[in-house]
Amino acid sequence: MLNVDEIRKDFPILDREIHGKPLVYFDNAATSQTPQQVIDVIVVYYSKYNANIHRGVHTLSQEATDLYEQARIKIQKHFNAKHSHEIIMTSGTTHGINLVASGFTAFLKKGDEIIISALEHHSNIVPWQMLCERTGAQLKVIPINQEGELILSEYNKLLSEKTKLVFVNHISNALGTINPIETIIEKAHQVGAAVLVDGAQACPHLVPDVQDLNVDFYVASAHKICGPTGVGMLYGKDEWLQKLPPYQGGGEMIAEVTFEKTTYADLPHKFEAGTPNICGGIAFGAALDYMNAIGFDAIAAYENELLEYATEELSAIDGLKIYGTSEHKTSVISFNLEGIHPYDIGTILDKMGIAVRTGHHCAQPIMDFYKIPGTVRASFAFYNTKKEIDALVSAVNKAKMMLS
Ligand code: ALA
Repeated sequence: MLNVDEIRKDFPILDREIHGKPLVYFDNAATSQTPQQVIDVIVVYYSKYNANIHRGVHTLSQEATDLYEQARIKIQKHFNAKHSHEIIMTSGTTHGINLVASGFTAFLKKGDEIIISALEHHSNIVPWQMLCERTGAQLKVIPINQEGELILSEYNKLLSEKTKLVFVNHISNALGTINPIETIIEKAHQVGAAVLVDGAQACPHLVPDVQDLNVDFYVASAHKICGPTGVGMLYGKDEWLQKLPPYQGGGEMIAEVTFEKTTYADLPHKFEAGTPNICGGIAFGAALDYMNAIGFDAIAAYENELLEYATEELSAIDGLKIYGTSEHKTSVISFNLEGIHPYDIGTILDKMGIAVRTGHHCAQPIMDFYKIPGTVRASFAFYNTKKEIDALVSAVNKAKMMLS
């Protein structure tokens, strides 16, 4: 059982008022809020340890390096990677996807196929389209049903010896659907394809075990898990990371440089050119500590309660339609009110202090599937309450009266 009243005290932003009303923050799928414990780590870092890492003999540099590498180990343990060098620090999920997509240029040729899904975020579509343009490979798409679930029988039909890479999100950002990635990974491996899973939306709600999943690549962002923006991680199996060429050239990623030839650093540094987001990486580790201290099982159970309650209450509003009705979903509700543009609802909700996301959620193909311009998306975190959901329901009813 979570003590939500106590947890809320960790988040100073939740005391804010917006347009004279208490903030109700329901845009957690876009970014989560930051607890004081993580804010403190950022302040302490810049107050006491700020230095560049991996390159100084001086004490500050060594201390900062230790803190940064300890964070990498926290991330390794959290995701249960076999080696810490399988964790590449990135600027976020998009960076991790682009790193892998760029590296696969060397491995693909005309006639090869990449499978993605109709549930993907644009960041999981565009890099693969660019990869196809570079290599002549073809993109295939797993379709979805009306509930917003992947149709696995269609996935099975798409798989063949031509499939070289399968790319799916663990959880859909627009609908909240939890995808059966275990089955997807197993089937892909049967035809010899590698699998990359985008865990940006999953990591706030569950703990992926990359060894248990037997996934080849897994990517995530710290800012969805109570950490800062601009930092994330790419997990890659050692054998893949050894094979992939470097993504960016620069300092930190080299072993030796001459004008004739450069040799590259060992993992993970081969993929970490330039000065990284040192403070962000350390704060990422602190955010995982914070979430783990609360406990992901308790978080998931409470968020499910919020999801059930909100689904029931919102469904009772006449003319409100929810998109994404899988039994397997996380605490995201995408909805529309008949005849009303989502942007107008979002604007009125904001006036009432309620933050939601409106639009296509960087997942235009899903909106095209449902033939809608976008949705209003309310996404809940473990620090939200049923009382806040009541405020949302009442505000949606008011918006409906004002706009109908
Ligand atoms: N991908 C983030 C979202 O779904 C930004 O809102």
